[in-house]
Amino acid sequence: MASKLLLTITYLSFSILFGVSVSTTSHHSHPPTTTNYKPNLLVLPVHKDPATGLPWAHVHKRTPMTLVPLLLDLNGNHMWINCQTHYASRTYQAPSCHSTQCSTATTTQTCHTCVGSSLPRPGCHNNTCALMSTNPITKQIVVSELAQDVLAINAAANNGPRLGPTVSDPQFLFSCAPASLVQKGLPNKVEGVVGLGHGPISLPNQLASHFGLQRQFTLCLSRNPTSTGAVLFGDPQKLFGYTNKKFDLSRDLLYTPLTVSPQGEYYMEINSLRINGRSVFPVSPSSSSLLSSSLYSPSGMLGATLISTTAPYMVLHHTIFETFRQVFGKQFPMQGQVNAVAPFGLCYDSKRINNAKPPSVDMVVKVEKSRREVSWSISGDNLMVQARPGVTCLGVVNGGTNPRAAIAIGTRQLEEKVVVFDLVKSRVGLSSSLCSRGRSCSDLFGFANKS
Ligand SMILES: *[C@@H]1O[C@H](CO)[C@@H](O)[C@H](O)[C@H]1NC(C)=O
Repeated sequence: MASKLLLTITYLSFSILFGVSVSTTSHHSHPPTTTNYKPNLLVLPVHKDPATGLPWAHVHKRTPMTLVPLLLDLNGNHMWINCQTHYASRTYQAPSCHSTQCSTATTTQTCHTCVGSSLPRPGCHNNTCALMSTNPITKQIVVSELAQDVLAINAAANNGPRLGPTVSDPQFLFSCAPASLVQKGLPNKVEGVVGLGHGPISLPNQLASHFGLQRQFTLCLSRNPTSTGAVLFGDPQKLFGYTNKKFDLSRDLLYTPLTVSPQGEYYMEINSLRINGRSVFPVSPSSSSLLSSSLYSPSGMLGATLISTTAPYMVLHHTIFETFRQVFGKQFPMQGQVNAVAPFGLCYDSKRINNAKPPSVDMVVKVEKSRREVSWSISGDNLMVQARPGVTCLGVVNGGTNPRAAIAIGTRQLEEKVVVFDLVKSRVGLSSSLCSRGRSCSDLFGFANKS
């Protein structure tokens, strides 16, 4: 069974590599489901879209079971899917606006009306529960219908991190959005978004409640679009012990407090941001107005740093970005600089910086239960991006004067690292680059040697 799934994954990697087009929503698979099996760790394989650099995953849903490709949004508060086209399922249900499912999903409990059509279909019923769904790239918001249908996911195999039996939640809640919500900004063929945020019906929360898992999930994103990364739901300790006796991942994790915003988004607090030891944040006293601005919310945290999987690169507030670019530019061979390629602000002739090691960028964070400061470094491939052949750019972009957060860490900075979101202890665990130890997300989860 596991090999059948892996075959699918391999096939998809192959499709991406060679541009074979797959009609993903009509691509049925029939993973056998085990009902009496109680998993303690679930695995969702994750891929990288080569065009946008964003992570996506196939979620098993509906009856008959179908693979639905969805963008992974760390800060999304529920799963939403385009139900207007290709949605066929014998088990689809739309809870009413007076149901307990509706009060679980939303505090507003508004009744949904489908005006466009008199023919009921998934996403289009009257007196169902209305939910707001957001496209995290375009920020478009639409009213959608709360829906309930089967969701299946792989348990981790008993003997390690590989894919084990498929388990299912027959009453998984999500929202059914119109096709217009997927038309812009999302990776090609993606049919919606899977939210990992801290909302009552986000994927981690529903899986934890249904399967009785520990309220933790772990992200490991692959850099290479032909490799597979994963999100693990549950306590990852077992996996870390198993991974490699010589390489104990749990010892490599740096834990810092995790703050969840009222919208369910994940922030960590940084004390400073340094390039080769030089501080670029907090900025000089002249920009203290920036420091006191509401940008540093939630709860007025000074160095609130959003962790995002829908921003391909790190996004900095304009003032921090300008300082960052100046300091970085002075530290790295100026003679190699070439005209910047959008969306980047600092680019180099790849040949001229070939052997030069870019300065290390350190995010200084607070360590749990102590006043000690420790830094989490971003270097090499997590920092530099090949923007086009022969041009390498600093993978940091200017977020303007009104970004969502003063500092947002993007997917590039998270790749080939293990990031644990521990909601029990309100902390986030960050590993150093697996590549520096000759490892990758793909081999950590046993995907590498199967394809
Ligand atoms: C929902 O109600 C509206 C008006 O109240 C009606 O025009 C529409 O046809 C109904 N839709 C469905 C799917 O029953």
